Amino acid sequence: MSATNTSEIHQNAISILRLNDKGTYTVPTHGLYPFQWNWDSCLTALGQSHFDENRAWREIETLFEHQWPDGMVPHIIFHELDDGYFPGPDVWQTDRPVATSGITQPPVAGFAVKRLYERASDREAARTRALALLPAIDRWHQWFFECRDPADEGLVALIHPWESGRDNSIDWDAPFQRVPTDGIQPYHRRDTDHADPAHRPTKEQYDRYLWLLQHFRGLQWNNHALHDESPFQVVDPGFNAILARSCHDVATLARELGLVEIADKNQARAEATVAALENLWSDDYSQYLCYDRIAGVHQQSASVAGLLAVFAPIPTARIDSIVAKLNTMAENSRFLVASHDPLDNRFDGKRYWRGPVWLIVNYMIIDGLKVAGQLDMAKRIETDSLKLIGESGFAEYYDPKSGEGCGGESFTWTAAMMLEFLKD
Ligand code: GLC
Repeated sequence: MSATNTSEIHQNAISILRLNDKGTYTVPTHGLYPFQWNWDSCLTALGQSHFDENRAWREIETLFEHQWPDGMVPHIIFHELDDGYFPGPDVWQTDRPVATSGITQPPVAGFAVKRLYERASDREAARTRALALLPAIDRWHQWFFECRDPADEGLVALIHPWESGRDNSIDWDAPFQRVPTDGIQPYHRRDTDHADPAHRPTKEQYDRYLWLLQHFRGLQWNNHALHDESPFQVVDPGFNAILARSCHDVATLARELGLVEIADKNQARAEATVAALENLWSDDYSQYLCYDRIAGVHQQSASVAGLLAVFAPIPTARIDSIVAKLNTMAENSRFLVASHDPLDNRFDGKRYWRGPVWLIVNYMIIDGLKVAGQLDMAKRIETDSLKLIGESGFAEYYDPKSGEGCGGESFTWTAAMMLEFLKD
């Protein structure tokens, strides 16, 4: 990318973040996703911090204003009504002061807050704002272990694919067979009004997403019951790695700010989760695999979740194997990192989380590789990410073989990640 090109792309990224800014939160993209999404917001704040630090903190603070009394931070906050999205508040019926969904999303907040704090130029403001957010993030982490790890295994389970942030991954195909499709109220999907249906989850998957939603709604969203009552309980290595990394980062930051109890608790959680991740490792796949807690089996599915585990402080030998795997993947696609192994015959380069590259995932993999000193592979993934934006703009996700941009356009987290990639 030439220098002019780079500065133009930089400006465009900022313009997209401003275009999608609703004042105190940012929508992922107008039309397709008109509300606030949990992990989108935390990663978006990183991009905002390059041109408006105050606004970046606000993004995460807004999200935590909608934390549930039990500690959960919901995956969607429906700030303003908009019938361009389904399922809306009338379907979730979570009975919150401002409507929210009833499930959660990958807990990147701890990681993001530490990063905002470290780079803040207004040190005093950063200190005050981090001190206010850390106890809330700690409560969320505690909620995970209480409600999603009832047997104290050190790993939390997802009870709905949307919680993973990787909605229609091949990882869910087998456990989804246990989720019925009968008794679902008639519905009209809105996502396929905005995006190509061939790039989106199938109707059969939507039926199951909704069956689970209705089932949890029937249990009054009682998080002390949902895990055990769910026919879908899957342990995702990427999700757990994000949780472990956030616990680790919260521990470090809390210690620096004198919050000793929060620091100790989060350090213990990070250590337990990193140790337990070993149970998800597969020598055959040279990566971590999802684990179906109900069937008691590992998923035979080489998804990016098992590579994203490098985001946590995992053992060096595991990182080395994952780098070797990434080298093999690089031979089978033009752009790293495909969300599913291109050699698997279920791979689909355009269908959402069944193959496409997502730049937020690339960002977290790059970060983990840098921490581990794997700079060549980190650089390679960063170069691929920049090329994708250069060729195809700020898309929601990209085909790893052709580089084509898919899904929503002028996408917030893609723009935010661009600002992160360009920062050094
Ligand atoms: C989709 C993605 C999810 C994301 C949301 C908003 O549902 O799968 O990860 O948070 O869109 O961008």
